[in-house]
Amino acid sequence: DGVNRLGDMIAGAKVIVPFTGAGISTETGIPDFRSPGGLWTRNRPIHFDEFVASQDARDEAWRRRFAMQETFAAARPGRGHHALASLYRAGKIPAVITQNIDNLHQDSGFAADHVIELHGNTTYARCIGCGQRYELDWVHRRFQTGGAAPDCPECAEPVKTATVSFGQAMPEAEMRRATELAQHCDLFLAIGSSLVVWPAAGFPLMAKQAGAQLAIINREPTDQDDVADLVIRFDIGEVLGPFVRN
Ligand code: OAD
Ligand code: ZN
Repeated sequence: DGVNRLGDMIAGAKVIVPFTGAGISTETGIPDFRSPGGLWTRNRPIHFDEFVASQDARDEAWRRRFAMQETFAAARPGRGHHALASLYRAGKIPAVITQNIDNLHQDSGFAADHVIELHGNTTYARCIGCGQRYELDWVHRRFQTGGAAPDCPECAEPVKTATVSFGQAMPEAEMRRATELAQHCDLFLAIGSSLVVWPAAGFPLMAKQAGAQLAIINREPTDQDDVADLVIRFDIGEVLGPFVRN
C-alpha cells in the first residue's frame, strides 16, 4: 500500500527535502488554517497593509496572538517532526522547508540554519521598520501598560510577530535556499499543506520538474495531487510515526 511505497521511496532516496504545512503540527494542539475549526474559518487574516495603516488592526493582531500564546508555548514536536528529525540525523535530509511559524522543527532537533522558514516565526517579534528583534514578553508588557500594540522605541515603526502576512514580501534568502533545495533532491515530501498559498506552493512542482519524485501526505486532497508520484490521504503522525528513531 501507500505507506509501504513511501518506505521504499525514503529508503531509496539519497537526498530528501521535506516541505511542511500546518497539518504536521495539529497533533501538537496548534490548529491549522483551512480545516474545520482552522484559524481562517474563525477569523479572516489581517492583511499587511491594514496592519501598517491601522492601530486597531495592530491591536487586533496582537490580541489574537496573545490568545494563542498558551497553545504555542505548550506545543511540543509531534511524530511527524520527530520522524523528519530522525532522517535529518541520519544524513538523508539536508534541511526542511516549512510554511510553519511555530518553531517545532527547531525544537525537534533541526539546527536553526537547516529550517527554511518561508513564512517567518511567531515565537518572537520584529520592528517592520528597522528589523530590531523584540521578545513577546516585552510586547505583552508594553501592550498591558500602554493599552495598545507598541511601536519600536528605536524608530517608531510598528512591531509585528516575525511572520509573513498576506501582502508582505517573501524573505529573499529563504526563497533562494528553498529553490536550491527543491532543485537538488531526489525525493520531495509535501506534508500537511493544502498547497494553495503561493509562492510557497510552487516548490513541490519545482522539485518535480527538476526530476525529484514527489510524495504528498495530507488528510484532504490538495491542489497538486495529480502531479504527485504518491499521495497518502491519512493522518501524518500515523504515517510518519514508524520513521522515528531515537
Ligand atoms: P492549511 O490549513 O491550508 O492546510 C493544512 C492541511 O493539513 C489541510 O489540508 C488538512 O487536511 C491537513 N491536515 C491537518 N492535520 C492533519 C493530520 N494530522 N494529518 C494529515 N493531514 C492533516 O495550512 P497550510 O497549507 O500550512 O500563511 O497553509 C499555508 C499558509 O496559509 C500558512 O503558512 C499561512 C496560511 O495563511 C501565512 O500566514 C502567510
Ligand atoms: Zn524599529
